[in-house]
Amino acid sequence: MRLKDKVAIVTGASRGIGAAIARKFCEAGASVMLCSRSAASVAGVAEALVREGWNAKSAQADISDEADVEALRDLTLEEFSRIDILVNNAGINRDALFLRMKSEDWNAVLQTNLTGTAYCMRTVIRPMMRQRSGRIINITSVVGLTGNVGQANYAASKAGIIGLTKSIAKEVSSRGITVNAIAPGFITTDMTAKLSEADSQRMLELIPLGVFGTPEDVAEVALFLASDAAGYITGQVIQVDGGMVM
Ligand code: NAI
Repeated sequence: MRLKDKVAIVTGASRGIGAAIARKFCEAGASVMLCSRSAASVAGVAEALVREGWNAKSAQADISDEADVEALRDLTLEEFSRIDILVNNAGINRDALFLRMKSEDWNAVLQTNLTGTAYCMRTVIRPMMRQRSGRIINITSVVGLTGNVGQANYAASKAGIIGLTKSIAKEVSSRGITVNAIAPGFITTDMTAKLSEADSQRMLELIPLGVFGTPEDVAEVALFLASDAAGYITGQVIQVDGGMVM
């Protein structure tokens, strides 16, 4: 059990990549607090894990709201007494060409993806410092490395997460806390289901391994980064993209 006795928070765990990471961590022996904006949908995922014998709880929390994030930390400490691992997975996209992008869509994506990730990090770092250990894993995107037409807000938020990851990795390394990011390419989830058949086909042609990724592909790397095996890795961005960006 690679995460035996560890306590993890996974944001955006009601479906897709977050739900797969929560399951993977449970199967590795961790106690997991799953959160998302919708209480009912994240509760369903946590209840299914509990029925299988795993230790999981859920909470409604909007990561773009600092009070919600603090309440999530408090609830996790109340339920599980410590926080060893934070996975900042929750994220949204509101795509449009830059000149047509509404300010509210710019703000919503930056506030959720970048500021929400920063709130979650700042909130858990204090208890992690007291423990003198912790693992923070931020889910960015290859788009944060390359940019993408129609995704200026999303790409800026994901590039920001990379800068945040490296800065905080440097600030907290002396306290035994590692901070890394995973940059997925094209992973089959609700987020990518919005793409047209033609766009999906074009995307597939850009992937040397010739298939789309699965949420489990990302969850495996998150498990590695959360485990003792990754103790000497910090400030890194690991791509899970089938070779799409080299
Ligand atoms: P998804 O749309 O299927 O799931 C997103 C999850 O985040 C849901 O549980 C949703 O309720 C939650 N969420 C959204 N806003 C939230 C908020 N303000 N507070 C709390 N929870 C919130 O997305 P998917 O595909 O599973 O993506 C997960 C992460 O991976 C996102 O950060 C996304 O940007 C990133 N990513 C996804 C890729 C893909 O191809 N699917 C590629 C690269 C990155």
